Amino acid sequence: MEFKHKSVLLNECIENLNIRKKHIYVDGTLGGGGHSYEILKKLDGTGKLIGIDRDKVAIEASKNKLKEFSNFEAVHNNNANILSILDNLGISYVDGILLDLGVSSYQLDEASRGFSYMQDSRLDMRMNTDDKLSAYEVVNNYSEDRLSRIFFDYGEEKYSKSIAKNICIERKEKNITTTFELVDIIKKSMPKKALNEKQHPAKRVFQAIRIEVNEELTKLKQTVIDSIKALNDKGRLAIITFHSLEDKIVKHTYEEMEGRCTCPKDLPVCICNYISYGKIITKKPITSGEEELKENPRARSAKLRVFERIN
Ligand SMILES: C[S@@+](CC[C@H](N)C(=O)[O-])C[C@H]1O[C@@H](n2cnc3c(N)ncnc32)[C@H](O)[C@@H]1O
Repeated sequence: MEFKHKSVLLNECIENLNIRKKHIYVDGTLGGGGHSYEILKKLDGTGKLIGIDRDKVAIEASKNKLKEFSNFEAVHNNNANILSILDNLGISYVDGILLDLGVSSYQLDEASRGFSYMQDSRLDMRMNTDDKLSAYEVVNNYSEDRLSRIFFDYGEEKYSKSIAKNICIERKEKNITTTFELVDIIKKSMPKKALNEKQHPAKRVFQAIRIEVNEELTKLKQTVIDSIKALNDKGRLAIITFHSLEDKIVKHTYEEMEGRCTCPKDLPVCICNYISYGKIITKKPITSGEEELKENPRARSAKLRVFERIN
């Protein structure tokens, strides 16, 4: 299957990364290489771009798309390991990092990856197919209570309890192996009126399982901290999020890294010794304009936040 993905907030990312020739950049979520292509064009044959993705298909697709650029290097790894990845490449600091979080359209559309509630396939949802934990293990092995919490916390699913309960009843008979089996159980666990809502009834549960399988939230805070620490003076970190929990983590971690004096107002000098790693560039997140939204409905929930390192 062809690797199809339309890059979100492309111009906004490139502008805010302040790409300078002869400098080093990281695209921590390579995907189809759409953002990377524009970064490499700006570098104009100078400097270097390191592209990271945990999905081998994305690595191969972007290597192919970017083969004309000799200053591009692809790394199959988790961006949570950014510091060790750079260390292995002999690089101490970089001048910009992009994280375009979540899944690519390719991953969602390719039935065999088991991400989609619209196509029947074995339950999987692993971005890295070498990982042990898949949606199949989550659905068949997690306790009712844990499933219910995941559906509620990561999917904001109102019917989390009854869906978790029905999963546990069904799997006593036989393991739940396919996406459509799971969709049926989800539908059976909801009142009729919920089935007529605009959003597909399985959307929230599928999102929640995907987040769990790929540890999308648990490692995010440390990834943001490590990415900021990996930046040179004036280097920028640009992060696009697609749901509110991710965005909250990015926003709060930026605030912590910006640092703030916590001394009482009447103290003549600061004694709290707060550490600041830089400043937040986007006081409010950047979102897609009408034109982009018309062409790419996936951009609807995208939020871009940018942080600049000051040494
Ligand atoms: C939204 S797509 C990126 C699309 C890309 N910016 C483009 O323009 O083509 C997200 C990509 O990041 C990868 N990804 C998500 N989380 C990751 C992580 N923690 N480490 C490495 N790659 C990750 C996914 O496998 C997916 O290919």
